[in-house]
Amino acid sequence: MTSYSLRSSSPAKTRADAVVVGVVATGDGPRLCDAADEVAQAYGRRLRPFLSTMGVTGKAGEAVKAPTRDEVNAPLLVFVGLGEDAGDPVAVRRAAGVAARSVPNAASVALALPSDTPELVEAVVEGHRLGGYTFTAYKSAKAETTEPTDVVVLTPIARRAEATAALERAEVLADAVALTRDWVNTPPMDCTPPLLAELVTAAHKEVTKGRGAPKVTLEVFDHEQLEEMGCGGILSVGNSSAAPSRLVRLTWAPKGATTHLALVGKGVTFDSGGLTIKPSSSMVTMKGDMAGAASVVAATLAIARLGLPIKVTAYAPMAENMVSGTATRPGDVITMHSGTTVEIANTDAEGRMLLGDALSMAVGDEPDVVVDIATLTGHMQLALGDKVGAVMGTDEQVQAVLAAGVAAGEQHWPMPIPEEMSERITSSKVADLLQHDWVRWGGGLYASAFLREFTGGLPWAHLDIAGKEMNTGGPYGHVPSGATGFGVTTLVELARALSEA
Ligand code: BES
Ligand code: ZN
Ligand code: MN
Repeated sequence: MTSYSLRSSSPAKTRADAVVVGVVATGDGPRLCDAADEVAQAYGRRLRPFLSTMGVTGKAGEAVKAPTRDEVNAPLLVFVGLGEDAGDPVAVRRAAGVAARSVPNAASVALALPSDTPELVEAVVEGHRLGGYTFTAYKSAKAETTEPTDVVVLTPIARRAEATAALERAEVLADAVALTRDWVNTPPMDCTPPLLAELVTAAHKEVTKGRGAPKVTLEVFDHEQLEEMGCGGILSVGNSSAAPSRLVRLTWAPKGATTHLALVGKGVTFDSGGLTIKPSSSMVTMKGDMAGAASVVAATLAIARLGLPIKVTAYAPMAENMVSGTATRPGDVITMHSGTTVEIANTDAEGRMLLGDALSMAVGDEPDVVVDIATLTGHMQLALGDKVGAVMGTDEQVQAVLAAGVAAGEQHWPMPIPEEMSERITSSKVADLLQHDWVRWGGGLYASAFLREFTGGLPWAHLDIAGKEMNTGGPYGHVPSGATGFGVTTLVELARALSEA
C-alpha cells in the first residue's frame, strides 16, 4: 500500500528516489511548473539545453526520465507534460497518472506538480493513485515492479486543513474508482450475481466497521425474494443462468439530510446476449456489463465515507444473461415490478429489463431525484466513442450530470428522447410495452424512452456508459488498460452538488 502525504519542502532538496517534475508547454518552449521552480534554479542556464536534448516539450501525456548528478538531491527526475494550462485540474490529474506509470520501481517518490490549491492537490493524488492502478489477482508471475511505499506531494499549502481534506477526499474517490475497476476486471466466473453480492457485502463491511465509521444499511435480495417482489424483469434475464439473480440495496441516510437521491446501476455480470446471442467478438468485454452496479455501490460507499449530507439509496440489480433451455424467448411477455407488461423482442436488450424493475423499486422509496447508470447500448458507444458518456432524462437533471462531470473531470454529452420513441415503445400488439424494435438507428434513445416509463415522472437522469467502462487500448492519463471506473466520480460529485443545493 502506498501512503500519500503533503509537504512544503523543496523539490531540489528532497531525498526521494525520484522527483516528478511538471512541465508546461509554452509558445516559448517547455517551462517547469511553479512547484518545480527550485529544480529550475538548481539547473540554472543548463536547464533549457538539457530539456531540449532530451526532447522534453511539455506535451500532455509525455514522460521523460533523467538521472541527475549533483544538481538536486534525488537521483532521478521524471519530467511529465502538463500541456498548455498548468492550472487545469484535468491536465494535472492526467500528468500525475502518467507519472505513476513512469516510475516503475522507486520506494519513495516526490511530486512537484501544480498543487497550490486544494483542488489541485486532490487532482495530483487522485491522478497518481488511479494512474498507478493494476489488477494482478490472476497473474501467476510475480510483478517485476513494486509500487512506492511513500508518495510526497510537494505543495505550498501542505499545512492548511483544506489541503489535508483534499488529500483525504482524493483517497476516498480513488478507492471508489479502484473498487469499481476491481469488480469490472474480475472474470465473470468469479463475479456471478451471488458472488458480486458477496463482494459488495465485503466492501460494505470494510467501510462500516470500527468506531466512527459511517452507517450504511445493506440489503441483499435473493431469487425467492425477487419473485415475491414481482421483479419479473430481473428474473427474465437471469433465468437462463445456473447462477441465481440478486438485488442489492444500500442506504446512506445521514441525520438532517433533506434531499434523497436514488442511484440505480445495471448489474449484468455477463452478457452473452441470451438466445439473441451476440457475435463472439462483441462478447469479449461483456464481463464489464455490471459496471453500472459496481459504480453505484462504490459511489454510495464513497459518499458515506465523505459524510455528504444527503440521503442516497443505491439499487444494484444483478443477473447473468446466458443461453439455456430455460432462457427467455423473443415473444415472451414479462410482468415487471411495476405491473407493466413487456413483450420481449431481443434478449440482448436485457439491461432495460433489470433497470425497469430497479427503477420502479427506487420510485417506491420516494426519492427526490433518480439517476441510473448502465452499459446499456452499443448505439451510444458508436455515437460518442469510448471516452464520452451519454446522458438523457429530465432537463434539470441532465444539466446537473453535465456539471458534475465537469467538476469530476469526466465528459458526458446530452442526447434527446424524441417524441416518436413514446409511440414506438408502446407499439406491441400483445403487451403494454415493446422491449425493442428492430429499427437499428436511435437504439439508445429508444432504450431511454423505455426506462422513462419506470421513473414515475420523477426528476431523472440516465447515463449510458457503454464502451466507457472498459479501455481496450493502452493506458492514458489516469486511466489504465482494462476497467476504467468511468462515472463513479461524476456520481459522487452529483451527490455533493445536490447536498449543497
Ligand atoms: N451490454 C450491451 C451494451 C454494450 C455494448 C455494452 C458495447 C458495452 C459495450 C447491451 O446489453 C446490448 O447488448 N445492447 C444492444 C442493444 C440492442 C439489442 C437494442 C446492442 O448494443 O446492440
Ligand atoms: Zn448488456
Ligand atoms: Mn445485451
